[in-house]
Amino acid sequence: MPTCRICGSRLREFYDFGKQPLSDAFVPTDRVGEEFFYRLAVGICSSCTLVQLMEEVPRDKMFHEDYPYYSSGSVVMREHFEATARHFLATELTGPDPFIVEIGCNDGVMLGTVAAAGVPHLGVEPSGGVADVARSRGVSVLTDFFEEGTAERVRSEHGPADVVFSANTICHIPYLDSIFAGLDRLLKPGGVFVFEDPYWGDIVERTSFDQIYDEHYYYFTARSVQALARRYGFDLVDVTALPVHGGEIRYTVARKGARPVSGAVTDLIARENERGLTTDETLAAFGAAVTSVKNDLIALLTDLKAKGERVVAYGATAKSATVANLCGLGPGLVEFVCDTTPAKQGRLTPGTHIPVRPAEAFADPYPAYALLFAWNHAAEIMAKETAFSEAGGRWILYVPTVRAVEGKVDAT
Ligand code: SAH
Ligand code: TMP
Ligand code: ZN
Repeated sequence: MPTCRICGSRLREFYDFGKQPLSDAFVPTDRVGEEFFYRLAVGICSSCTLVQLMEEVPRDKMFHEDYPYYSSGSVVMREHFEATARHFLATELTGPDPFIVEIGCNDGVMLGTVAAAGVPHLGVEPSGGVADVARSRGVSVLTDFFEEGTAERVRSEHGPADVVFSANTICHIPYLDSIFAGLDRLLKPGGVFVFEDPYWGDIVERTSFDQIYDEHYYYFTARSVQALARRYGFDLVDVTALPVHGGEIRYTVARKGARPVSGAVTDLIARENERGLTTDETLAAFGAAVTSVKNDLIALLTDLKAKGERVVAYGATAKSATVANLCGLGPGLVEFVCDTTPAKQGRLTPGTHIPVRPAEAFADPYPAYALLFAWNHAAEIMAKETAFSEAGGRWILYVPTVRAVEGKVDAT
């Protein structure tokens, strides 16, 4: 019987996406047939209510030298993380011996600003390729997975930290017992652990089921994070809603009793209970909504194909692996996917084998329809692709429902 990675209680599976490839394993054209597949299914803990994957993919298969996600690929995300760094520089890092550690610093999108300010910092990042880019920006990086042993090493070599920050990474880490043991080693008595991840409340509200894939092991709520923190001698002291990546929460965690608990925490937990975010009814409705989106998207793309319309996808996101594999979207329905990331270009999408081409291929010539796989970056992308709409092109969106639209819209 599968059990909760945190509290050991029974897990109840509520959606099975079937066999899926690794979401970021873009396939070289001469390596087709060598792909790794696992069963993507999501469940909920009957006790602490934490939503989590039923199966765990070994971390070295996902995070390595060739990991192809570079955080700085979006202007909006660069601005978001620059503002985050400035916030820490102005608040938590003003003491005599400031020190900030980032778990999953990627290409240095956040720590670059800290490094430029000359403030002591360390990124812990297991993926060597992205870590090298961070170093080229003047960021100090330890190429390793963060866990208890790494935290001990960082503490003995650099001293204790005021802040441990992590964006879009804690949800990637099944072994949170080791993470919290590491935080206990590493944080100053009054230090904070701040992390931001996609919010289960937004995933339910928008049926953004494509947030569910191998790398995203956990789907947090304020309630489940509070239970998690308390289990390890910490407390959830603040929450802030963020508009990025389709809706996230920034959680601030401190040692038990070290900081007052903001009213925002109790308010959000009360709201989650009112909404019944983890009730059987909500989970069944979510599953039904996923199946509707799947059927509608297959129907729309099959119809466009029958009419001879060209459909190209925009953004070879990790998320799109779930949509494409669930719906069986191969090169027969989607001609290619354009993406600005050199590490993805020239390869094929995992499992579905749609060719990935550079961004310039999009306009050469424009297709009739663009399937927006990077819907979380809709505002940024639609603002720069106005010529596509002016040429009569339509965007196909599937969050929260399937539709084809002209021009600039709020995709979410
Ligand atoms: N913080 C960036 C990157 C998110 S992608 C952003 O928000 O855009 C997730 C990153 O976490 C990847 O770079 C991956 O290599 C890293 N990662 C995965 N497991 C990790 C672990 N145990 N410790 C530290 N980093 C990890
Ligand atoms: P993300 O949704 O996980 O951040 O991934 C976004 C992907 O989309 C990434 O591969 C970069 C790509 N992208 C573009 O190709 N053009 C763009 O304008 C933006 C913002 C992203
Ligand atoms: Zn649990």
